[in-house]
Amino acid sequence: MRPWTPAPAAIPPGGDWTIDQGWDSYTPAEHRTWTTLFERQRGLMEGRACDPFLRGLDVLDLNHGGVPDFARVNEELARLTGWRVVAVPGLVPDEVFFDHLANRRFPAGRFIRKEDELDYLEEPDIFHDVFGHVPMLTDPVFADYMQAYGAGGQRASRLRHLHHLARLYWYTVEFGLMATPAGLRIYGAGIVSSAAETVFALDDPSPNRLAFDLERVMRTPYRIDDFQQVYFVIPSLESLLAATLQDFGALYGRLARARDFAIETVAPDDQVITRGTQAYARSRRAA
Ligand code: PHE
Ligand code: FE
Repeated sequence: MRPWTPAPAAIPPGGDWTIDQGWDSYTPAEHRTWTTLFERQRGLMEGRACDPFLRGLDVLDLNHGGVPDFARVNEELARLTGWRVVAVPGLVPDEVFFDHLANRRFPAGRFIRKEDELDYLEEPDIFHDVFGHVPMLTDPVFADYMQAYGAGGQRASRLRHLHHLARLYWYTVEFGLMATPAGLRIYGAGIVSSAAETVFALDDPSPNRLAFDLERVMRTPYRIDDFQQVYFVIPSLESLLAATLQDFGALYGRLARARDFAIETVAPDDQVITRGTQAYARSRRAA
C-alpha cells in the first residue's frame, strides 16, 4: 500500500533498494500463513473481483507451495506484460518507488505478517503486495497504467503535487471499484487483499460509491486507518488509462486553487452509484 511513512530499512539498501528475496529462508510457519491467507481470500474473489484480477490470479499460480518465489512469478509476468516483482526491505522512498514503476518493476516487501495477525497490517507485507497487486499487472492496460503512474509520480514530485497524485493511486490502485455488466467488482489491492474490506467495499450500506472523475478524486482525502468512506468506480481499465494520459499540468494548476471535498461528501456534480449512510464511519467515531 502507498503511501505510508517509510520506516528505516533493516538492511542497508543498494541504489534501488532491492534485496534478494531469499526464498529459501521462509519458515514453514510463514509458508502456512501465505496458504491460509491465500485460500481464504481466493474463495472470496469469485463474483467479487474483476475478470482481469481473476485471470491474473489463475495464470500466476500463486499458491504453488506457500510464499511465492519471485523468480517463478516473474517468468510468467515478464512473458505477459514485461513487468517484474522485485523484493525490497519495506517501504521505499517515493522517488525510488516511482523509478521502479516507471521501469515496470513492482517493489514488494519480502516479509509476511505473523500467524496470529492475519487481519492486521501495520505495513504492507508480501501478501498484500503480491496477492493484491501482482495479478492486475498481468493485464496489458493496467500494466501500462502503472508504468505511466510511475513516470507521473516523478513529475508530480518535481511539481509539488504528489499529495494530489497520491489520491489517484489510493482510489484506483489500492481501493478502486469497477462497474461491469455483472455488477460492481473490485480491483484495488487494498480491497482484494483484505477479507473484511472485500465484503464492505461491495455490500456495506455505509460508504459512498461515486463514478470516477479524475479531478474529483484528486480533491478527495482518504483514510489509512479504517475502511474507506468513499469508493470511486471506473467503467473500465481502458477508460482509466485514457483519463490519465492527458497532461496533468493544467489540472495541477487548478488543484492548487481548489478546495478539498470532505471525505463523506456527495457533491452536486457527482454521479452517484450508491449513496452511503456513513453509519459505519459514525459508529467508529463514537466508539
Ligand atoms: N498524465 C500524467 C501527467 O501528465 C501522468 C500519469 C499517467 C499519472 C497515469 C498517473 C497515471 O502527469
Ligand atoms: Fe499496496
